[in-house]
Amino acid sequence: MSTWWKKDAKAVPTETEGVDAGAAEEFLRLYHDENPSAGSIRPRLREVLAEIDRTGTYTHTPGELAFGARVAWRNSSRCIGRLYWRSLRVRDRRQVDTADGIVEECVEHLRVATNHGRIRPTITVFAPARQGRPAARFHNEQLIRYAGYRQDDGSVVGDPLSTAVTEQAQELGWQGQGGRFDVLPLLIEVKGETELRELPADVIMEVPISHPHYPWFAELGLRWHAVPAISNMCLEIGGVCYPAAPFNGWYMGTEIGARNFADTGRYDQLPLIAERLGLDTSSDRTLWRDHALVELNVAVLHSFAAAKVTMTDHHTEARRFLTHLEKEESSGRVCPADWSWIVPPLSGSLTPVFHRYYDEVTLTPGFAHHAW
Ligand code: ARG
Repeated sequence: MSTWWKKDAKAVPTETEGVDAGAAEEFLRLYHDENPSAGSIRPRLREVLAEIDRTGTYTHTPGELAFGARVAWRNSSRCIGRLYWRSLRVRDRRQVDTADGIVEECVEHLRVATNHGRIRPTITVFAPARQGRPAARFHNEQLIRYAGYRQDDGSVVGDPLSTAVTEQAQELGWQGQGGRFDVLPLLIEVKGETELRELPADVIMEVPISHPHYPWFAELGLRWHAVPAISNMCLEIGGVCYPAAPFNGWYMGTEIGARNFADTGRYDQLPLIAERLGLDTSSDRTLWRDHALVELNVAVLHSFAAAKVTMTDHHTEARRFLTHLEKEESSGRVCPADWSWIVPPLSGSLTPVFHRYYDEVTLTPGFAHHAW
């Protein structure tokens, strides 16, 4: 299993722990401060504290949930795309807690979010963890990911990131096609049982990758899915944990062009591209990797534009992020940011986000990785 994200994993509050009243109060203060139309905090706070006393947890109002989810995005220190945090579509599906119900809502999520290519940032929130009732959660890192099939010689066909979840799916009876871009089924854990469900092909939009000047580029057979929908992070609001709350934005080109296709531990395409470009690969100092990386990123941006699928580039997004920082500052808020994630993995110093430091605090509401 690829475990970089476990570095900061903390345990999901289990169903036996109660919600921390202090965390609930802190969130309600934030909500009422930023939403004067929600009225006075006092009666609501009294109600929530009584509910925690009685049941060990409390129920967010739809308004609190939507605000909490949007602020969780606003607080995501690794995300460069936060300027539009207020526009997040929040789908309140807390009543849904069966595998079938969850898949149905994921399908609808992908429809709403994909929007024929005009991607809409969207989150679907399923039932929270409660005392005596563990919540459902996904084993998949994203709703749409490509399988990685480990071969006898140790190599991987497909996405090496996904070998563990691919094997898990196979153990549950899934038979992949053995291709490089097979979409994985969803593995949903409900009441301790992991259930396997395929997504219908018509909700999975994909973009074939070609280059504006090199016709041979299409022959590499590369493609990528239109919507990145993270499904393995827990949404934490005011002490309440929502382990199944898949959310998506749209892609920035470098995520695919400078990481998914380029990392040696992923699709590792640079040697191939360099060869097709006829570059001198005899020495690192010819910068053949760097050259190939730029052409690959040109291809990714070009292809998404040609397919009319929303995608941003790192120059535009870096500028937007600084606008976001200014707006947050003028609202009197701290904007947490992690330099090593905010700076794009290509041409970092060409973007303005490179040339400064950021506040590294962790704020809630937020998204956190589970400890399994
Ligand atoms: N980097 C991840 C990927 O390549 C997606 C992370 C979320 N990205 C986003 N633009 N919202 O699939």
